[in-house]
Amino acid sequence: MGFMDLREWIARLDKEGELRRITAEVDWDREIGAIARRVLEKKGPALLFEAIKGYRTGRCTKLFTGGLGSRDRLALALGFPRDVVNRDLVGYVMQKNRERIPAVTVRTGPVKDVIVRPPDIDQHEFPVPRWHYREGGRYIHTFSAIVTRDPDTRVMNAGIYRGMIGQRDTTPMLLIKGGQHWGQHFVKYAARGEPMPVACVIGWDPVMPLLAGSPIPAGVCEWDVMGAYRGEPAELVRCETVDLEVPATAEIVLEGLIADDPATYETEGPFGEFTGYVSDLPTPRPTMTLTCITHRRDPIFRGCLEGTLPGSASENSVMSSVQRAAIAWNILVAAGIPGIRDVVVHPITNGTNVCVQITKHYQGQPKQIAAALWGASAAQFRYKHVFVVEDDIDVSSYEQLDWALAYRMNAGEDGIVVFPGIFGSPIDPSTPLEDRDIRQLGTGLWNRVLFDATRNWKFPRRPEWDGERFPPTVRPAPEDEARVSERWSELGLGDV
Ligand SMILES: Cc1cc2nc3c(=O)[nH]c(=O)nc-3n(C[C@H](O)[C@H](O)[C@H](O)COP(=O)(O)O)c2cc1C
Repeated sequence: MGFMDLREWIARLDKEGELRRITAEVDWDREIGAIARRVLEKKGPALLFEAIKGYRTGRCTKLFTGGLGSRDRLALALGFPRDVVNRDLVGYVMQKNRERIPAVTVRTGPVKDVIVRPPDIDQHEFPVPRWHYREGGRYIHTFSAIVTRDPDTRVMNAGIYRGMIGQRDTTPMLLIKGGQHWGQHFVKYAARGEPMPVACVIGWDPVMPLLAGSPIPAGVCEWDVMGAYRGEPAELVRCETVDLEVPATAEIVLEGLIADDPATYETEGPFGEFTGYVSDLPTPRPTMTLTCITHRRDPIFRGCLEGTLPGSASENSVMSSVQRAAIAWNILVAAGIPGIRDVVVHPITNGTNVCVQITKHYQGQPKQIAAALWGASAAQFRYKHVFVVEDDIDVSSYEQLDWALAYRMNAGEDGIVVFPGIFGSPIDPSTPLEDRDIRQLGTGLWNRVLFDATRNWKFPRRPEWDGERFPPTVRPAPEDEARVSERWSELGLGDV
């Protein structure tokens, strides 16, 4: 059973000692972001800011962040105890991602408590942080679910796409036409000569960003998958000015239109991205014009500090370590590849690197794994480097992975395979800017690499090596280990 809304989630975090209310006055301009970074570094609690400079009174006075900023809290959000192991959490998410409980539309809900229409719309009435001093502006959409509808099938999509306050009622956004599902909708509306209706949902069930921030397959509505996670249909209400539906108990919804008309583009960026770099340049981008805002009474603004650095994993990284592993594993299962034992995404790379543990059935299996992942549109921002190891290597351990890479991988024997110039992330700082030009190329270009650290089946089995293809390791014989273990105290080593 999921959480009904953001308020229930905040109350639960409070009860579990996972929330800190900040009642000292803080500045939305850089200070909230710097506090959030320090709390991530210290593996601290979720934060509810209740006294924000310039927002002590008015339309919106509170900001919540960090709810999914630790693995313990992600486990809580998914209904697991804190000590749940990676495989169980990933297995649960794999299963739920495949289930659907269709959403229902209800007449009204708390999100309609207050309705704001032009000319009263002003996004500056919300305590939107400038999270980082190098960012181009105040990012209102960092953890919002951006809802659009496929004009052909009428299926809705919810995705997290960043958006920065432009003017009072405009929001330039990073809209990638290739790969991303709202981008595919955008192309269809443009072909019809129509602007795309958009609704941005801020603050609801904590599972919403877990689904919106990850590639649930095209044609599947995230609200229906939300139903599977919640164990009952998501209750939606119709928007006021666009043909879209949003959760009845969301905190804030911004409605509007985006046209594929460069004359309407406004400058967006740079943004502190998940790579840990502020790598983008200010660029004219598709811009949403707001037509309506609806919100609950005393709404709570929800945002996240994006960007992971060694020692401070963002909310997105924590989510990605589970969700991007689950999505990769489901892709490999759907491709019919045998022997997948574990898929691990270390939070530090958000899934840019993915580690797959297999029982090796045949020599070409690692290449098949890489090909399946790279052929999936879910690889738009992820799976640049695929590491494959065998089942005696625990891929959650960097030490074990490193050992396998050192002695099982041979670049001259196809241990490293480069797939150049394939679609990929436009925000990877190691990619030259010209290969990140989405206006020119539609999406970024990546050179993807497979690191095959499995033992090579081209090596003949040798009798000297007990009929194996690879030499034995330096581990003592099991009977020698057992005898030493028995005599350990007698040897005077009992305290070692
Ligand atoms: C904080 C955050 C910001 C993101 N910003 C963007 C963005 O600006 N543009 C984009 O295409 N994807 C962005 N993403 C990644 C998408 O949410 C992700 O690729 C997701 O799969 C998109 O939904 P879709 O698969 O339904 O298109 C962001 C994710 C997070 C968590």
